[in-house]
Amino acid sequence: MKFFIDTANLDEIRDAKAMGVLDGVTTNPSLMAREGRKDTDALLKEICDIVEGPVSGEVTALDAEGMIAEGKTLAALSKYIVVKIPTTLAGLKATRALSDEGIAVNMTLCFSANQALLAAKAGAAYISPFVGRLDDIGQDGMELIADICLIYENYGFKTEVIVASIRSTEHVHQSALLGAHVGTIPHNVIKQLVNHPLTDKGLDAFMADWDKLQG
Ligand code: E4P
Repeated sequence: MKFFIDTANLDEIRDAKAMGVLDGVTTNPSLMAREGRKDTDALLKEICDIVEGPVSGEVTALDAEGMIAEGKTLAALSKYIVVKIPTTLAGLKATRALSDEGIAVNMTLCFSANQALLAAKAGAAYISPFVGRLDDIGQDGMELIADICLIYENYGFKTEVIVASIRSTEHVHQSALLGAHVGTIPHNVIKQLVNHPLTDKGLDAFMADWDKLQG
């Protein structure tokens, strides 16, 4: 399972990289806005240079032609850029056009299995179903991941499932059990994954015994 970090914050990205678990990054317009930098292309390039793996940068055009033009500009920033495109009719057209030119696309804002099926057929390299936002409205986000993984397996689609809108370590655990290709995980959740009270308790006991030995 690949770990992407869901942030545009350079400190968080560097920290996850230092943990040795980082495979890529996803950003979106809200995450970019949170950094307060207007030079978004420069920021994306800096992220690519740190990660040296797939970095999703999202288009802001809403029409297919605009998405294609913006996607090409983004893709020219770095070989690591993955163009993030919303799962709409215009988005499908742009995904097909960019994929045909060899540009990797991550279709985002996916909330149904049918949307994921369309994304795969349009040639998307990745699909991003948002589990947390489905949980927020009383649906089961992880059930959608199970459906998409099964559908992709049924037909041998190469599109990779990025579990997005992850809110908890349990989302990560369930994603791994389902065989999702990727989780895009907030920094705080990545750090929580290593925690276990018995690890802390065991370490305290080891250190206490060691101190006794030293006299
Ligand atoms: C990732 O691709 C998404 O942009 C992100 O996971 C959305 O997460 P949120 O629902 O916490 O905003």
